Amino acid sequence: MKVPVGILISGRGSNMLSLIEAAKAPDYPAEIVLVLSNRETAPGLHLAAQHGIPTIAVASKAFGADREAHERAVQGELVRAGVQVVCLAGYMRLLTPYFVGQWAGRMLNIHPSLLPKYPGLETHQRVLEAGDKIHGCTVHVVTDGMDEGPIVGQAEVAVLPGDTEESLAKRVLAAEHLLFPRALKDFLKRDKNTT
Ligand code: GRF
Repeated sequence: MKVPVGILISGRGSNMLSLIEAAKAPDYPAEIVLVLSNRETAPGLHLAAQHGIPTIAVASKAFGADREAHERAVQGELVRAGVQVVCLAGYMRLLTPYFVGQWAGRMLNIHPSLLPKYPGLETHQRVLEAGDKIHGCTVHVVTDGMDEGPIVGQAEVAVLPGDTEESLAKRVLAAEHLLFPRALKDFLKRDKNTT
């Protein structure tokens, strides 16, 4: 049986789409049962709907500074949809210990750097400034520290002479699209073998 997976997004949703596409394969271990955004205008919501995936927006704006109240509303939707594993795909919210605790060991995030290098934002710019020759992306289990949890998978991307933030971001994103479906699959398989 496929594991019901929920994807949280805030914007474009290109990583979300790569997961939706992968999950169409009959032998892929996950089924995407819900795409949820904290922004009503996230383009990824339309994209998911076009693929027949149930979508919902739980606008964080409506909750002001009360992050946990927003997360409780999100949690309600995830539970209602029967989600068992959550994938963060460009979900631009800092999570509280409440939400991380609800999904301990069952929530993955994709990050555009080779963690533990460059947690946080502006990763491509920081890689270029540091003169690194190798960059990449990481899928990791979400824990309380930002971009810190156990690594599930990584993909390397060479930094080329003349690279700009844009050119590098484009190649890293292409690597992300391959990595996330592969990492989710590995994660679910491992999980199955240990339970
Ligand atoms: C990706 O670069 C991802 O690594 C980061 O946010 C971006 C989301 O892009 N967490 P998209 O919405 O999946 O296109």
